[in-house]
Amino acid sequence: MDKLLIAGGRPLAGEIAISGAKNAALPILCAALLTREPVTFTNVPRLNDIATLFKLLAQMGVKVERGAGDEVTLDASGLDNPLAPYEMVKTMRASILVLGPLVARCGEARVSLPGGCAIGARPVDQHIRGLQAMGADVRVEHGYVQASVPRLKGARLFTDMVTVTGTENLMMAACLADGETVIENAAREPEVVDLANCLVAMGAQISGAGSDVIRIRGVERLHGTTHRIMPDRIETGTYLCAAAVTGGEVRLTGTSSCYLDAVVDKLMDAGCDVTSEREAIRIKAPARLNSVSLRTAPYPAFPTDMQAQFMALNCVAQGAAMIRETIFENRFMHAVELQRLGADIRIDGNTAVVHGVERLQGATVMATDLRASASLVIAGLVAEGETTIERIYHLDRGYERLDDKLAALGASVRRLS
Ligand code: UD1
Repeated sequence: MDKLLIAGGRPLAGEIAISGAKNAALPILCAALLTREPVTFTNVPRLNDIATLFKLLAQMGVKVERGAGDEVTLDASGLDNPLAPYEMVKTMRASILVLGPLVARCGEARVSLPGGCAIGARPVDQHIRGLQAMGADVRVEHGYVQASVPRLKGARLFTDMVTVTGTENLMMAACLADGETVIENAAREPEVVDLANCLVAMGAQISGAGSDVIRIRGVERLHGTTHRIMPDRIETGTYLCAAAVTGGEVRLTGTSSCYLDAVVDKLMDAGCDVTSEREAIRIKAPARLNSVSLRTAPYPAFPTDMQAQFMALNCVAQGAAMIRETIFENRFMHAVELQRLGADIRIDGNTAVVHGVERLQGATVMATDLRASASLVIAGLVAEGETTIERIYHLDRGYERLDDKLAALGASVRRLS
């Protein structure tokens, strides 16, 4: 298993390009299941999660063609096996995103339940309830969600909580349903909007994406298109934190601060100078940051996917910060690893209190999930001496060429196979 060796203490400096968003690419690639015509995507990040999705789609009969650079064409004209087996779903929860499109296009689907993951139980009951309200017969049998329906019917849907992939699954399903579907309490994340834009380019009739009420008027069929995946706001935020914590000065291209208001606000509160350009962000950090308290919540509030990185930042900031996690019940796994580096963190339920220390010290730590791993990298970049991060396959799921990008910014990072 690969490890990452980081020698801390170098301020990051220079410029790197941000990749396409993992969390936009996953649902948008699944949207290709909704049409018999080929769909071409650009700015597709090269990540293990994306490779897993391609394998899953290929075994369903979808032709996957990698073009030059970041371009991929998916052709689902030969879709003949609406099945997502456990072996594939267990490594990536987002595989559940095939459920809505498969039921809508094939009238049936058999998708393994994702099961638990490191950050909590993460059920899919809202996805199932929504499809049932649209007339599908959905049962959970032998660990699989089995759904069938001649054609989905438009319905008024209300989700109990704001769910990102739940909103995306139901929005995709509704595109081919008979009549109008209204999703209330919909997720407002920019990735939901990017998916809606792609679906509209494929011929779907959707309004309200980006608000908490999305209306979809079902059509008979969708067609092919070309769609560019939006930039990864979490990758952007992660490099902004890495620059901030090392007292660096960095320019990130191919991205925009417009999806990152809550994160940029906190970085400015911490004492950083953040400048937005049309398709780039520049950050200049002070020698020592101020600590910043935060509370995670659905977009446009502070994203749970940036919580771990800000915990790392607070570990070396001046003062004390309170971090409250309201989305996932078990998302402080990184705290014990950060403590191994000398951080002062106390956890009480869904709240962490972090007292900034003068310096962290390099040690061996273990990555537990994707964003937790990113927080360990950030801490390693500022810790004295060498930090070894084990199990970095988590990072490879969601950060494209992380070690290369950090090295380009002057960090001392080595991957050991
Ligand atoms: C997505 C993101 C993930 C991010 C999360 C929250 C993707 C591929 N992943 O995950 O990176 O951390 O949004 O911003 O886009 N819930 C239920 N029942 C359901 C669905 C959700 O109880 O049917 C709960 C979850 O357990 C969680 C909360 O709702 O507590 C929000 O989860 P959700 O928005 O669905 O997260 P994901 O879409 O899985």
